[in-house]
Amino acid sequence: MTKIYQLEFGRKQTGVEDLNLEVEEGQIFGLVGPNGSGKTTTLKLLLGLVFPTSGTGEVLGFPIGHPAYKERIGFLPEGPYFYDHLNAVELLRFYGGLFGLGGKELDRRVQELLELVGMWDRRHIRVRNYSRGMLQRVGVAQALINDPDLIFLDEPTSGLDPLGAMQIREVITRIRDQGKTVFLCSHLLKEMEPLCDNIAILNRGRVVQSGTVDELLAGPQGMYMLRAHTVPQEVVESLRSFATEVRTWDSEIEATFADQKLAAQALEAVVEAGGTVRELSPYRRSLEEVFIDAVGGEAQ
Ligand SMILES: Nc1ncnc2c1ncn2[C@@H]1O[C@H](COP(=O)(O)OP(=O)(O)OP(=O)(O)O)[C@@H](O)[C@H]1O
Ligand SMILES: [Mg+2]
Repeated sequence: MTKIYQLEFGRKQTGVEDLNLEVEEGQIFGLVGPNGSGKTTTLKLLLGLVFPTSGTGEVLGFPIGHPAYKERIGFLPEGPYFYDHLNAVELLRFYGGLFGLGGKELDRRVQELLELVGMWDRRHIRVRNYSRGMLQRVGVAQALINDPDLIFLDEPTSGLDPLGAMQIREVITRIRDQGKTVFLCSHLLKEMEPLCDNIAILNRGRVVQSGTVDELLAGPQGMYMLRAHTVPQEVVESLRSFATEVRTWDSEIEATFADQKLAAQALEAVVEAGGTVRELSPYRRSLEEVFIDAVGGEAQ
């Protein structure tokens, strides 16, 4: 799909360009990219809130925008806005009502969801008095009110403290473990890396990398990484002769080796010289490195 926004005076702005994505059922799919790269545009296209300039897509087997899938999806928008005179219970009852839910069943569902997002004890507070984190938590509960098969979350942990963010990540994992599909947008790479099954990196409206997290982060086969500190300079120099790469800063050293044998040899040399080993592990790139490589200096 391609989405070109028409601005005033005939100017145009690309939202996404030749977007080609496939998300499998039952996975957590993460769309990552810098600000303005087209994450929210992608969500809005899939939700049928904006229309593609060209191309097509399907959600749960229906063409995008088709009413048939809308009752089977949930959506947490970026910076959600809710009626601020409602409290959490009233708000969820309102959204449940939109899906035709009511009575005892809805009461049960409301309590279950507010407990899930850690808002049950604060259920009587009105939205106008919410902190940013409370708004986000209730937003996630709202997106789950209809027990959707597929849930779209735009920056779900934005504005949350570390504990709150962790709770939301647990909720997301739990939803996936129930067999549901989660489509997530975020630029918080550290958070996406352990959470997602598959990731696509967007830059300037285009997918520049995609795959399973393991595929994206795998280093060359068999390679090992050694991290240590306070290693004498001459030992660092000797490591350079058989390491693939050696990086140093302050008193830290990080070296990669083509195989386990070379890594073991380096380990011995470091220990022998009185250096302190921090880590020896199969080499894996961080999502941050992959992202910077993919996006380079040309992020918007
Ligand atoms: N309604 C709109 N009208 C015109 N341009 C728009 C509109 N919505 C988005 N854009 C433009 O499309 C591009 C992609 O925006 P989008 O909101 O999809 O990015 P994003 O990846 O969600 O960014 P962020 O991380 O900041 O949320 C941006 O250049 C943006 O200015
Ligand atoms: Mg956005």
